[in-house]
Amino acid sequence: MDEKRCGCWAVLKRGVGVGGSSSCKSRSDSAPTTIPRSSLVYDAAETRYLNASNREMCPPNEARPSSDAPPNCTEPKCQLLQFTFQELKSATGNFRPDSILGEGGFGYVFKGWIEENGTAPAKPGSGITVAVKSLKPDGLQGHREWVAEVGFLGQLHHPNLVKLIGYCIEDDQRLLVYEFMTRGSLENHLFRRAIPLPWSNRIKIALGAAKGLAFLHGNPEPVIYRDFKTSNILLDSEYNAKLSDFGLAKAGPQGDKTHVSTRVVGTYGYAAPEYVMTGHLTSKSDVYSFGVVLLEILTGRRSMDKKRPSGEQNLVTWARTYLADKRKLYQIVDPRLELNYSIKGVQKVSQLAYSCLGRDPKSRPTVDEVVKVLTPLQDLNDFAILSCNSRLYQQGRRKKKPELTQQRSFVAQSRSVRDSPVMNNGSGKQHC
Ligand SMILES: Nc1ncnc2c1ncn2[C@@H]1O[C@H](COP(=O)(O)OP(=O)(O)OP(=O)(O)O)[C@@H](O)[C@H]1O
Ligand SMILES: [Mg+2]
Repeated sequence: MDEKRCGCWAVLKRGVGVGGSSSCKSRSDSAPTTIPRSSLVYDAAETRYLNASNREMCPPNEARPSSDAPPNCTEPKCQLLQFTFQELKSATGNFRPDSILGEGGFGYVFKGWIEENGTAPAKPGSGITVAVKSLKPDGLQGHREWVAEVGFLGQLHHPNLVKLIGYCIEDDQRLLVYEFMTRGSLENHLFRRAIPLPWSNRIKIALGAAKGLAFLHGNPEPVIYRDFKTSNILLDSEYNAKLSDFGLAKAGPQGDKTHVSTRVVGTYGYAAPEYVMTGHLTSKSDVYSFGVVLLEILTGRRSMDKKRPSGEQNLVTWARTYLADKRKLYQIVDPRLELNYSIKGVQKVSQLAYSCLGRDPKSRPTVDEVVKVLTPLQDLNDFAILSCNSRLYQQGRRKKKPELTQQRSFVAQSRSVRDSPVMNNGSGKQHC
């Protein structure tokens, strides 16, 4: 097989010396089990944190500690293309600013086009559309993540994981080439768009993302994703969710081990508290992050939002009391949905988020259980707006032309709706 055309972890290890080097063993792996909170520091984007004692990285050519190495890449599964820098430069129109799809801690992501067979650039609009992520030249941490991404995505294939098509490693240049995801990230849809994401799409996305996680956790060599968040959930034209960014992924505990002890990395607002405090990583850390994303989907609020009043900035802290109280539940539903959501769906999603966010990791469900809970929610059509309309209709039959105020007093009098979304929608207003 042509090594150049089918790069993978094994090839990279030989080619550029990024494989495990004992001289470069991370201090984190022999780190004490309790990491003082004060040692967590934020990166430039102020969203990610690392254990301060582990910020010093090894030189790029031996950056990957062996303990962080992904499972072995077996050649037949690994069909990544190796691009030249020039090919990707042409594919993205010289990395034109107007082809930028987004920017993350790693660097910019550009839209580009390549020929169907191979690595040659294609004219815009022809061949295959790709997303090209280019590593900022200054990032040693980025190199480490780049290697992990190639290692994991080179061998893990699933409909709910984004497809890595290939990579480029040339001098200081590090790039990754992915399938293009037409609808961008869930973050864009939840927080940046004028049109609210419909309830049914929210459920579909939550389920797809859960299936992606379940695949990772259920792998013969389990993988803990460690960076589950809305910006890493990408959407195709039909709102199928795919997980992206495996730079922080970690091989999970094997045999009778219950956890992996590791440096603390992740994104503020999403990481499980016990992991942040102790560095003990289990698959239940991902379940916690899933709970945070589920809350964002339910409420339309960001996991951390400094623009909100102090008691509401941390979504989990703010929402916990509402989730636990069936009568308060509807107050936290994304007001932009108005009453266009399933009543039972909201109840189930809230219960699920609450259990995923349990303080004791053992009390949290597995991702397989999460998938089981979410699956039937796709078919629910007990939309709050329908029950509201039918109440108004019944009322209209009793009183020929009710005034709006009378409608409201009717609803208020109706005991059966006291705890329903009709009385308690997210904005605190009555819509019926
Ligand atoms: N395969 C893709 N197809 C389409 N758009 C993409 C693709 N990959 C990334 N993007 C876009 O680029 C943006 C930046 O992605 P990137 O993963 O670099 O950063 P991020 O997830 O926003 O932040 P972080 O660096 O903290 O993970 C995404 O939010 C998304 O909008
Ligand atoms: Mg990302």
